[in-house]
Amino acid sequence: MTDDGKYPWPHRHLLTLADYSADDIRHVLTTARGFEGISTRSVKKAPALRGRVVANLFFEDSTRTSMSFQLAAQRLSADVLSFSGKGSSVSKGETLVDTARNIEAMGVDVMVVRHHHSGAAAKLAANVQCSVVNAGDGRHAHPTQGLLDIYTVAKRCGRLDSLDFTGLTVAIVGDIANSRVARSDLIGLKKLGAHVILVGPPTLLPRGFADLGDGMSAELSHDLDAVLPRVDVVNMLRVQFERMGGGKSGGPAFPSTREYTARYGLTAARLKRARPGVVVMHPGPMNRGLEIDAAVADGPNSAILEQVSHGLAVRMAVLFLVTTAAQGT
Ligand code: CP
Repeated sequence: MTDDGKYPWPHRHLLTLADYSADDIRHVLTTARGFEGISTRSVKKAPALRGRVVANLFFEDSTRTSMSFQLAAQRLSADVLSFSGKGSSVSKGETLVDTARNIEAMGVDVMVVRHHHSGAAAKLAANVQCSVVNAGDGRHAHPTQGLLDIYTVAKRCGRLDSLDFTGLTVAIVGDIANSRVARSDLIGLKKLGAHVILVGPPTLLPRGFADLGDGMSAELSHDLDAVLPRVDVVNMLRVQFERMGGGKSGGPAFPSTREYTARYGLTAARLKRARPGVVVMHPGPMNRGLEIDAAVADGPNSAILEQVSHGLAVRMAVLFLVTTAAQGT
């Protein structure tokens, strides 16, 4: 699949889905759908980025996102540079911008960046000439996770042709406050017309999420049992202990992990409250036995590994499109 030129792609960067219109999101997903077939061919390569260089800069740990971007770039025949903050000159005090500008000086076309500070990707976009794709910045945004989650909802719920989520209800459950995935999913799902319910304990569910601006709003709930019978999709978030400052106890966010699971864990027993065909999602990595039980994560409703597969096609589409925009074609 290549861009047919009928939709002039306007974005050199992908920093947050807030910058993309509903039509932009649909165009990424349609492009991803075209790229999906490459992964089932005997020769899993397309020449779309031949001669281009993609640099993956990961200042924070990652399994899915880093490997997926690497493979996506390779599938499109780009040369790939992989940088990890650990073991680099960051330990000698080199700044984020200096690191990026030095890597860019090697002739980079697209820089993919993950960083623990919100706003890191935007800062790079303001200081380098190449395209920048945000692979997760602090609590702020994880736009390619948002896109792959939306792609998964579309496919599982029979909306891949229309990419119109009117009438669909999606619950995002758990550690909303610390989740860049929740923010990106919420923005993207709302733009395509879904009804979104954010569910979590009061300490992890900021009231500000109720009004997203631009006429968009989300329903808030503290009662997962009451919400489950109403939803088409339930997206379980990882409890992000590393952002709570209280260690594995959850610190001040909740009294104990046992209590959290009792109220917000997706167990097999609790899943029976949902519709039989409900789609269960999780961005990974999972805390099995805390926010989701193994029987649910590995059960028939789970789309968790499909999310990972879709991530490859979505990231191929993003790399291809931002490069197209940078070329001015
Ligand atoms: N979902 C996600 O971002 O996973 P990684 O942290 O492994 O990249």
